[in-house]
Amino acid sequence: MQESDAAVPALPDTVKDDIGLEVWQSSHVLCDFMMHSQPIKELILSATDILELGAGVGIPGVLCGMLDARAVTLTDYDAQVVAVERENLRLNGVTGRACQLDWRDRDAAAQLGAFDLILCADLLYASARVKDFVETVKLVLGPSGTMLFAHQIRRAITWDKGKRLPKLEEVDAPLELFQAEAGRASLFMKQLLVKEPAQHARDMGTEGSFLVLAFAWQRAALDSL
Ligand SMILES: C[S@@+](CC[C@H](N)C(=O)[O-])C[C@H]1O[C@@H](n2cnc3c(N)ncnc32)[C@H](O)[C@@H]1O
Repeated sequence: MQESDAAVPALPDTVKDDIGLEVWQSSHVLCDFMMHSQPIKELILSATDILELGAGVGIPGVLCGMLDARAVTLTDYDAQVVAVERENLRLNGVTGRACQLDWRDRDAAAQLGAFDLILCADLLYASARVKDFVETVKLVLGPSGTMLFAHQIRRAITWDKGKRLPKLEEVDAPLELFQAEAGRASLFMKQLLVKEPAQHARDMGTEGSFLVLAFAWQRAALDSL
């Protein structure tokens, strides 16, 4: 082991799907948006505790801490990712905690408490996880809380049995499902940003614009954003 490796935390053996160890572009878009929005900065400063769901390495949550948020809670279902989150909080001098939270575990979500600001970046990549995710939000978003949700529109490539050719789906199915489930849960939504991706991603044809959406139980909570 080299000397510089000493500070790197040992990673547990329980590997989920590893994707949380990558920083996804939506995280950058969300951070950039938060840095440049005065109402969001005010929201960050007024929040008692900020929660990031499916945080991966937790860049948006860590940024909130660096912007003087009172407390930050980073979560993910992957234990090795949570270990990295914990280390990132420490390395950046951010007051907060990192803990394991799987959206399928309603009891764990209920125990976490209710938050007045929730951050999410790039969490809609599988329709199968959307319902559990919304059920979690119902438990952790406080009555006057706001959720900021960054997403990159993607369309899956599926197999057209008739033409026996691959085809690009018409819509981003997980996003459509999420918006429908959020509506059913009586969450209000406001679109705060649409940002075009880099040319090389557009050329690929499967990855589209970035969105930053805000959700709240009270419509008025979205008015100032
Ligand atoms: C595409 S990554 C995005 C990571 C990070 N938010 C970012 O933007 O860089 C999706 C994240 O969701 C987490 N995740 C997936 N399924 C989950 C579940 N059922 N419960 C909690 N986290 C989950 C993954 O471990 C991963 O960290």
